[in-house]
Amino acid sequence: MKMLDANKTYLITGAAGFIGYHLSKRLIEAGARVIGFDNMNDYYDVSLKEERLRLLGQVVVEAGILEGTGTFEFVKGDLKNKADVDSVFEKYKPDIVVNLAAQAGVRYSIDHPDSYIESNLIGFFNILEACRHSYDHKEDGYNGVEHLVYASSSSVYGGNTKVPFSTDDKVDEPVSLYAATKKSNELMAHAYSKLYGIPSTGLRFFTVYGPLGRPDMALFKFTDKIMAGKPIQIYNNGDMKRDFTYVDDIVTGVVNILPNAPEDNGKGARYKVYNIGNNHPEPLMDMVSFLEESLGVTATKEFLPMQAGDVYQTYADVSELEKDFGFKPDTSLKDGIDSFVSWYKDYYKIG
Ligand SMILES: NC(=O)c1ccc[n+]([C@@H]2O[C@H](COP(=O)([O-])OP(=O)(O)OC[C@H]3O[C@@H](n4cnc5c(N)ncnc54)[C@H](O)[C@@H]3O)[C@@H](O)[C@H]2O)c1
Repeated sequence: MKMLDANKTYLITGAAGFIGYHLSKRLIEAGARVIGFDNMNDYYDVSLKEERLRLLGQVVVEAGILEGTGTFEFVKGDLKNKADVDSVFEKYKPDIVVNLAAQAGVRYSIDHPDSYIESNLIGFFNILEACRHSYDHKEDGYNGVEHLVYASSSSVYGGNTKVPFSTDDKVDEPVSLYAATKKSNELMAHAYSKLYGIPSTGLRFFTVYGPLGRPDMALFKFTDKIMAGKPIQIYNNGDMKRDFTYVDDIVTGVVNILPNAPEDNGKGARYKVYNIGNNHPEPLMDMVSFLEESLGVTATKEFLPMQAGDVYQTYADVSELEKDFGFKPDTSLKDGIDSFVSWYKDYYKIG
């Protein structure tokens, strides 16, 4: 297993996003040259994205005091515009590309389907094409993209009932457009790996949470509501389980994977997909209890039926990750929620 190479150029799309921020920070601290790309859209509070970029600037300043530490350059651009993607590849000649930019969220895809097609399908296609053409520059000493890593999602498992969810399971029955776009990304990556030799790894992330997280996700939403003294909405009457995964564990998983582009799978494609999840599904109501405990407030709860596009449970089989990298996420939900709450109170200046 190879270790992260800090002498490479890493292009991180979605760098102003939740996971993109944490990954960029880790890479900068490791001494790498990080190019962040994001369109700063207003799917959720843009000031949180600006805060992440501000902190990344700070990481560079702080890290820059030490010799040999990393750099961060930010490019505002949209994946759906081929010219934006091509120009960032031409200018920075990335060795490793991590595509995290996407329209995320299951429920939003019901009312805003266009955004998923533009960012997740056309956008990902533009990334694949740019990777493909990165091999056309050999004469100027740039060997092209050595590894394309991209975010897929646990949503691809849809309503599968066999647990834990394994990357060997059939995932042909998505229950949301979001899930369908993520599964499509895996198929598109396979075709490009096979046709043009792009080594690619897809990562099925399972319900990621942590400091500077996403305000549209349950933990953050519940915290906002509880602090505002409003009731929290609990779907399927609370009968749901999620494999909540702490963001630092996700980042460690990604950092292990980055320098280890897959070998030929025996069928002429350097192609791989991993689950990154906690391998420990938690009842939704336990998450609520941990949150109440951490905040020291009891929530008013409004119990509602299951929402369209939602699934009963997620549960990651991470045996492949363990086999290949000797790593599996291990942050407990209680500890992770405490870290989130401590960041939240600090950021929103609460007591
Ligand atoms: N957070 C999770 O629980 C989770 C779970 C499974 C998969 N994922 C996937 O991981 C990736 C990162 O998720 P996140 O939680 O950090 O989400 P996020 O929304 O915080 O980050 C995504 C970033 O991409 C940017 N973006 C979106 N569309 C873009 C476009 N067309 N061009 C340029 N930038 C664009 C957004 O502005 C945002 O900053 C996404 O692909 C998401 O689908 C996340």
